[in-house]
Amino acid sequence: MSFPLIIFFIIILPFSTSLTFSSFNISNSPWLPSQNRILVSPQNSFSAGFQALPTSSNLFIFSIWYSNTSYNVNHNTPTIIWSANWGFPVHYSASLIITSDGELRLLNDSSRTNFWQNPPSRNFTSTKLLLQDDGNLVFGSWESFLYPTDTFLPNQNITKNTTLTSKNGKFSFIGSNNLVFQGSDSYCFYTKEFLSLWDDGRVVRNGGNPITSADFGSKHTRRLILEDDGNLRILSFYPHRRKWVVVWVALLETCQAHGLCGPGYICYSDGSTSSGYKCVCPPGFKKILDPESCVPKIPIDPENSKFLRLDYVNYSGGSTYTNLMTYSFDKCRSKCVEEQKCHGFGFKYDGSGYCVLQMNRLVNGYWSPNTEMSFYLRVHQLETDPSNFTGMSEVLDTTCPTLITFPNPYRESNKTTLNIIIVTIIFTFEIASGVLLFWTFLKKYVKYRDMVHTLGLGLFPTAGAKRFTYGEIKLATKDFSEENFIGKGGFGNVYAGVLRDGRPVAVKCLKDVQSGESGFWAEVTIIARMHHLNLVRLWGFCDEKGQRILIYEHVPNGSLDKYLFKPGLVRLEDRDSDPNTTSMSSVEQTCMLDWNIRYRIALGVARAIAYLHEECLEWVLHCDIKPENILLGDDFCPKVADFGLSKLRKKEQLVTRSNIRGTRGYMAPEWTKHEPLTSKVDVYSFGMVLLEIVTGVRNTTEGPSWMPSEEWYFPKWVFKLGIEENRMDEILDRQIKHCYDDNVHFNLISRMVKTAMWCLQERPEMRPSMGKVAKMLEGTVEIMEPPKPTLFYL
Ligand SMILES: *[C@@H]1O[C@H](CO)[C@@H](O)[C@H](O)[C@H]1NC(C)=O
Ligand SMILES: *[C@@H]1O[C@H](CO)[C@@H](O)[C@H](O)[C@H]1NC(C)=O
Ligand SMILES: *[C@@H]1O[C@H](CO)[C@@H](O)[C@H](O)[C@H]1NC(C)=O
Ligand SMILES: *[C@@H]1O[C@H](CO)[C@@H](O)[C@H](O)[C@H]1NC(C)=O
Ligand SMILES: *[C@@H]1O[C@H](CO)[C@@H](O)[C@H](O)[C@H]1NC(C)=O
Repeated sequence: MSFPLIIFFIIILPFSTSLTFSSFNISNSPWLPSQNRILVSPQNSFSAGFQALPTSSNLFIFSIWYSNTSYNVNHNTPTIIWSANWGFPVHYSASLIITSDGELRLLNDSSRTNFWQNPPSRNFTSTKLLLQDDGNLVFGSWESFLYPTDTFLPNQNITKNTTLTSKNGKFSFIGSNNLVFQGSDSYCFYTKEFLSLWDDGRVVRNGGNPITSADFGSKHTRRLILEDDGNLRILSFYPHRRKWVVVWVALLETCQAHGLCGPGYICYSDGSTSSGYKCVCPPGFKKILDPESCVPKIPIDPENSKFLRLDYVNYSGGSTYTNLMTYSFDKCRSKCVEEQKCHGFGFKYDGSGYCVLQMNRLVNGYWSPNTEMSFYLRVHQLETDPSNFTGMSEVLDTTCPTLITFPNPYRESNKTTLNIIIVTIIFTFEIASGVLLFWTFLKKYVKYRDMVHTLGLGLFPTAGAKRFTYGEIKLATKDFSEENFIGKGGFGNVYAGVLRDGRPVAVKCLKDVQSGESGFWAEVTIIARMHHLNLVRLWGFCDEKGQRILIYEHVPNGSLDKYLFKPGLVRLEDRDSDPNTTSMSSVEQTCMLDWNIRYRIALGVARAIAYLHEECLEWVLHCDIKPENILLGDDFCPKVADFGLSKLRKKEQLVTRSNIRGTRGYMAPEWTKHEPLTSKVDVYSFGMVLLEIVTGVRNTTEGPSWMPSEEWYFPKWVFKLGIEENRMDEILDRQIKHCYDDNVHFNLISRMVKTAMWCLQERPEMRPSMGKVAKMLEGTVEIMEPPKPTLFYL
């Protein structure tokens, strides 16, 4: 017999001789690993028996797995959903027995210890071990569903007493609502307990909204599992891809789990896989192995220390000082300096007063843009390492090349005194000129303070809009002159202008803005508080003489539509801006917006909208996302404009239809039905824009000559060609098709198209959240095959 054939028999024989049986009772006891017996459920959905460890064929765990071998993605190791002795593998000579007094015992060699964890109590000798079709192993009143290991199955009751533990034993899900590291260190807490995973991809919760998976509603084999990285995930099986796909995760950023990296380390997502993360030492620190951690290269001397700024880094879990609510950076810093045991502090520049000291130890460090803070790490005065956490442009090469710069820390005491001094000097002149009434001072203080700001004399507060006078705006726009007119936006005319300090601005004169005096001020303040690289900055406003004017940063390159749509293909009625301002000459021949730039634009816009939806203090719907509202800055860095104008609202409240206007072609189906409007309306509009970025075709265009015109629905057309028939090159923008290289761009573009398809689902709950969309585009979560978008009629 030839050598390969022997190997063939060695592999095949144990399987071919395995004996299936439907119940294990006292008359077929003992059950030995060598017998190759497998207990199967009546419909043969699940199997149970001894499984050899992949690392050692002599050690076994008694487990339950899916019978259908296609679920076993690593062909010879089945997907195990439960085990009786995880972490306590037994030897080849072990046995499972039912004793003469009705006890179930898993014995190793000659020892009497029962290695079956949470064993059933004594039963009648007639009791049998049975496996049900839902995957529940039953012995009398005992059932494996009550003692899950790392997996919940559909229809399994999740109670406060059922605990999931990751295979490596580090993480658990306790009380059916709390993810913890090492038994008590909580890193993710749900106020509403989980009750059960349903077949349709829903997790029903006690008195709360259900959690829904990305493929909610479709029929799949599913499981809820706590994996070794501490993240809780729902997996669905996709038969045609022979793959378990992640359809929901508890932590969007894996690094938010505690204990992934040792003390001192900074965890960051390396973006290549959905669970990928890396542990690195901060600058000034080095790795040591026992215990695995990062320690200062030069031991810290509290009398002789300095701080390194690590952007977007947070440490937690040391004995922390809770938020000290100190608005001044210097105060926050000196609080840490005073403390011998302070290892550093976190500070936010957004004017929220966030200042948290980390005492005694540095643990659970992670880097994420979502922290929106900097961590100041204490190092020795002589440390020469520069900080390499500065906006992390090398990690996130998809963000715009513009370096993220932080405003200088704002020193509150100086500013107030400085203002008062300056105002007083000016006021002294006023006194000299005869104005003596005190209330005039009060009234003028505000005006002079603003003047002081404008002249650059005072330090700008870190947040908040500046009030301009009508005179200043008139001067800046040359009295709203014809030559400064840029266009007519959705909310009124827009003029270019230059402020006295030389800043170029765009001035938007609002029409028909109804909110009252204080409402306007409050809303503008909120809009001005939103800072994101991909949002147009609001510098200030003017609310005088019945005029409502907003002053924005000027974004030089115009809006996206000018680059995407050839004038011939664009229907004029869809354009808000003056067609005369469209100049194609400069972009026509070259690959001005090449595929990489288009991808970056898409990603930037997604991130900005995600920020509006979820990350701000207030929840803001844009409601009018379209290429006209995406401006292109230096290096074609996209900036979303006109946000916050439609309606500002607090979380959980629903937008009313009045006062909102979208643009035909970009409006989600909910607008025409009597359904609540949620953030998913923006997701829909974004999906349209995404397809337009790829195809260069306006979605309302009735197919040009080279497109079929019957039953025209833009997303359906893209789906048919791009996804069903896999003829991606036929949908690509003809302007730059010649720059397309299958090897380089295919992944990028197919990710954009698939993400768009998910965004364009008719049911809002089928669409992913904007945060998810950004991750889908980034490639940090897997994108499942999207269902075909269906046609709806307006
Ligand atoms: C035990 O199970 C076997 C088959 O699995 C069956 O033939 C036998 O009758 C059962 N014995 C008892 C005591 O239930
Ligand atoms: C069972 O016995 C084997 C060999 O005798 C040993 O390697 C293994 O650790 C034992 N299992 C447990 C859980 O003690
Ligand atoms: C789950 O709980 C419900 C109600 O509490 C109960 O009716 C059902 O039988 C339980 N299912 C299982 C498998 O224990
Ligand atoms: C930052 O520098 C430290 C050493 O000073 C290094 O260990 C770490 O990997 C660097 N981090 C990144 C993100 O490059
Ligand atoms: C940073 O970590 C602290 C725990 O030390 C936590 O309270 C805080 O919310 C975190 N900050 C941010 C912005 O995530």
